[in-house]
Amino acid sequence: MADAEHLVALVTGAARGIGRACALRLAEANCALVLTDIGHDAPGVPYSLGSESQLEHTRQLCLDAGADAELLLGDVRSEADVEAMMKLALHRFGRLDVVVNCAGIVGPSGKGVDQVSEQDWATMLDINLTGPFRILSAAARIMKPQGSGSIVNIASTAGLVGYRHFAGYVASKHGLVGLTKAAALDLAPHGIRVNAVCPGSVHDSAELEGRMLREVANALDLDGDTEQLFLRDQPSNALVDAADIAETVAWLASGRSRSVVGAIITVDGGFTSR
Ligand SMILES: NC(=O)c1ccc[n+]([C@@H]2O[C@H](COP(=O)([O-])OP(=O)(O)OC[C@H]3O[C@@H](n4cnc5c(N)ncnc54)[C@H](O)[C@@H]3O)[C@@H](O)[C@H]2O)c1
Repeated sequence: MADAEHLVALVTGAARGIGRACALRLAEANCALVLTDIGHDAPGVPYSLGSESQLEHTRQLCLDAGADAELLLGDVRSEADVEAMMKLALHRFGRLDVVVNCAGIVGPSGKGVDQVSEQDWATMLDINLTGPFRILSAAARIMKPQGSGSIVNIASTAGLVGYRHFAGYVASKHGLVGLTKAAALDLAPHGIRVNAVCPGSVHDSAELEGRMLREVANALDLDGDTEQLFLRDQPSNALVDAADIAETVAWLASGRSRSVVGAIITVDGGFTSR
């Protein structure tokens, strides 16, 4: 990916899972990286989030791949933390070319819409929708004077279709799809491209330490082999690999996708085509 060489990329949710896969792929493409994650559990989120040591592990993997990589613990719900992420990119690398908005939660979920509390709704929207908005708008303020940039929002098939008992998650991801389109129109005249990737069910790989599929199963009280249960809905008879999401992100980060603006790209093995 020669044309992504020496770009400076910020990846949120980089401690594990899809965020780690994106960081590694961008490291292989010679990007300099700012890796960030909350790094601890959060009240109201009913499962463990990425840890500081997992974020350090991601950084080490990127260094091993030959990339320059800095890390910073930060919560996408905090304006001050988001400003600190931007400052780190500018002070350490002098610019910001790529943002991957990957941090997200899948629960609290598992209840019918009439049982969802205001608190649970607010937690979901704050992390999954307002968080990416904060990052995107802070990054755009840096990218505008540069006259270039690529922002990739990791949405979901839940940004395109509904799922029973996931109203907050589905609403947050539909919101992120809408934010992507509106921001793309605002920022395209400034040379900044905004696009979204909508993953389907991603295989929780041990190497990446991702756990979202397991948490979806937990929210629905599903027993048994989780991956087999999700496979039943996959036309391609395979779950999505995080590396496939990362490949799409790397392409969107690079100039090879220069005419792709405001696109909502599914990487779901055909799930939403049914
Ligand atoms: N795994 C899937 O099947 C799947 C499918 C569709 C979309 N997605 C989306 O992909 C993204 C990554 O999911 P994943 O599967 O890697 O999940 P994951 O839980 O393994 O990783 C998410 C990361 O985001 C971080 N995070 C959560 N809240 C944060 C906050 N407030 N501030 C900063 N960091 C925070 C977590 O600590 C964690 O490291 C999410 O936005 C998710 O909605 C995942």
